[in-house]
Amino acid sequence: VSAATTEKPWRRYTGGEAKGFVDELRLAAMKLHTRQQAQEGEMEAKAPEEQRVEEWEPTLDGYLKFLVDIKVVYDTLEQIIEKPSFPSYGEFRNTGLERSEKLAKDLKWFEEKGYGIPKASSPGVAYAKYLEQLSEKDPQAFICHFYNIYFANTAGGRIIAKKVAEKILDSRELEFYKWDGELSQLLQNVRGKLNKVAENWSREDKNRCLGETEISFKFYREIVRLMLS
Ligand code: HEM
Repeated sequence: VSAATTEKPWRRYTGGEAKGFVDELRLAAMKLHTRQQAQEGEMEAKAPEEQRVEEWEPTLDGYLKFLVDIKVVYDTLEQIIEKPSFPSYGEFRNTGLERSEKLAKDLKWFEEKGYGIPKASSPGVAYAKYLEQLSEKDPQAFICHFYNIYFANTAGGRIIAKKVAEKILDSRELEFYKWDGELSQLLQNVRGKLNKVAENWSREDKNRCLGETEISFKFYREIVRLMLS
């Protein structure tokens, strides 16, 4: 048995064989990371936000811009799920992964401390607009964004948060990275829902969804980059 067949990263998540579509989504996402970002990454780092997080030089102003823009994305995503254009989105209501209210609390805290909260800028606004349009016309492609936006935050997002907090926030842990309940269970529950929704999809639908991963990365990276501005 070769190393490639024994060492399958998704084993950690499924506890066995690649059973569902969410494993395919994960693999598509992992490939798009740089080697510096994640062990399973396959891309070469070019831009600053693609380098090892240890080497980042985040600024507090930049981090606030990031929080404001990512909130625009979560607000939009959560509104879409609340008033779904397609019934399948309804599955993803109240998963416990929602981030809008948490981000509102963080921004309020900064405001009370006297920090100026910036206006939303083009990376967040552009992604939110894209999501709104996509959600009305292509549910399979939209679900890819749902997956990436929520799961990125629980994986790389938490690594970034820790490093950035050490450098510029006196290690303060933001609400954005706290979940009510056991995160691993919340994630497992959403993985199950994603697999269930995709059961009715044709191979073509699945491929369209997987193909959207690159677009999600492109938009999300622009927002992450704000931290370093
Ligand atoms: C997983 C780091 C950006 C989506 C991971 C993992 C790491 C990581 C280390 C593996 C976690 C594990 O195996 O337990 C980073 C870093 C980034 C970054 C440092 C710097 C910018 C992104 C972006 C997206 C994304 C832009 C997509 C919008 C994901 C997804 C997973 C993941 C979907 C799988 C999560 C799971 O299976 O639970 N990331 N990532 N990441 N990342 Fe990223």
